[in-house]
Amino acid sequence: MSEILLQVEALSTHLPLEEGLLKAVDGISFTISRGQTMGLVGESGCGKSMTVNTIMRLAPNFAQIEGEVTYYPAEGEPINITALDPYGPEIRDIRGGEIAMIFQEPMTSFSPLHTIGNQITEAIRLHRTQDRKEATKIAIDLLQRVGMSNPAQRMNEYPHQLSGGMRQRAMIAMALSCEPSLLIADEPTTALDVTVQAQVLQLMRDLQSEFGMSILYITHDLGVIARMVQVVAVMYLGRIVEFTDVDSLFYDAKHPYTKALIQSIPKIGRKSRDRLESIHGAVPVPINRPPGCGFYPRCSAAIDGLCNRVDPPLAQIEDDHAVACFVYPEVLDAVGETMPEGATHAL
Ligand SMILES: Nc1ncnc2c1ncn2[C@@H]1O[C@H](COP(=O)(O)OP(=O)(O)OP(=O)(O)O)[C@@H](O)[C@H]1O
Ligand SMILES: [Mg+2]
Repeated sequence: MSEILLQVEALSTHLPLEEGLLKAVDGISFTISRGQTMGLVGESGCGKSMTVNTIMRLAPNFAQIEGEVTYYPAEGEPINITALDPYGPEIRDIRGGEIAMIFQEPMTSFSPLHTIGNQITEAIRLHRTQDRKEATKIAIDLLQRVGMSNPAQRMNEYPHQLSGGMRQRAMIAMALSCEPSLLIADEPTTALDVTVQAQVLQLMRDLQSEFGMSILYITHDLGVIARMVQVVAVMYLGRIVEFTDVDSLFYDAKHPYTKALIQSIPKIGRKSRDRLESIHGAVPVPINRPPGCGFYPRCSAAIDGLCNRVDPPLAQIEDDHAVACFVYPEVLDAVGETMPEGATHAL
């Protein structure tokens, strides 16, 4: 069995809009190993959801998609997801069966017209067993495992009858009902209050160790990243600008953008009159983007004549630590550039 579960190679999702070409995802590569948890972090609009929607073949149908997404099932040949018919049976088998997704708003996953039980058992019958009784039993068991009180009774309730936290649990139960190899969670707890959020995160961690699935966890909340994942990709304007393990992210961040993100986390012990750092400037919309590094206009370490001219590629600067910033010689080497004479930077 391959160690790799999902491989994303030079994936781009460009949206031709009236205003210009919007490069929502712009050439990103990463792999997820079996059982690994990976985080995708970055400010609103950086392309996190578009990345996973493209992986799941749920991007808008006018999107121009390039690159390759390969899924390695436990048995059988690797599947080139990008080559599948987005409406065909193969991708539907993968979606829900091999890769499950949970979203910020559970109402988008459930139909308001059917009971929770009905919807979960339908998913189980589609992917696991035809037997209605057995499917019901699996569903009740799952609802119990995700911490629903009176699971048998909840089966007969409609989504609107559940509280936000309970709906989120029901959605997790539905996602796990097919024993996916990969769970993609796109901001699944942002809408919940903090105590419920903590419970749901704990639940996902428990279930992950129990089922041994991989998780791709999307959030703009670095606190959640710290609790949930092993490796992290930091996205900015449709690109991955830093890729590393979670400890290095917090203690040894390299990219000026990542450093700024970490600076902006409130810290216990900070004097109350100290101002919280914020990253100056707003995230630009990735339409008709100028040459050079996308973070240049907001970067405190920017090198004029270099960063606004050449696009820094993601380059390995340490074992398992890659960054896309010209402050690091490895990144200069990767494009055959040198530091402009007399250039200084404030990193
Ligand atoms: N259907 C669409 N039509 C036009 N632009 C879109 C569409 N969907 C997404 N975009 C744009 O693509 C870019 C990436 O959006 P995406 O939803 O992936 O961001 P995100 O990182 O998930 O942000 P958030 O944290 O707010 O969820 C944004 O500039 C967004 O406005
Ligand atoms: Mg999103």
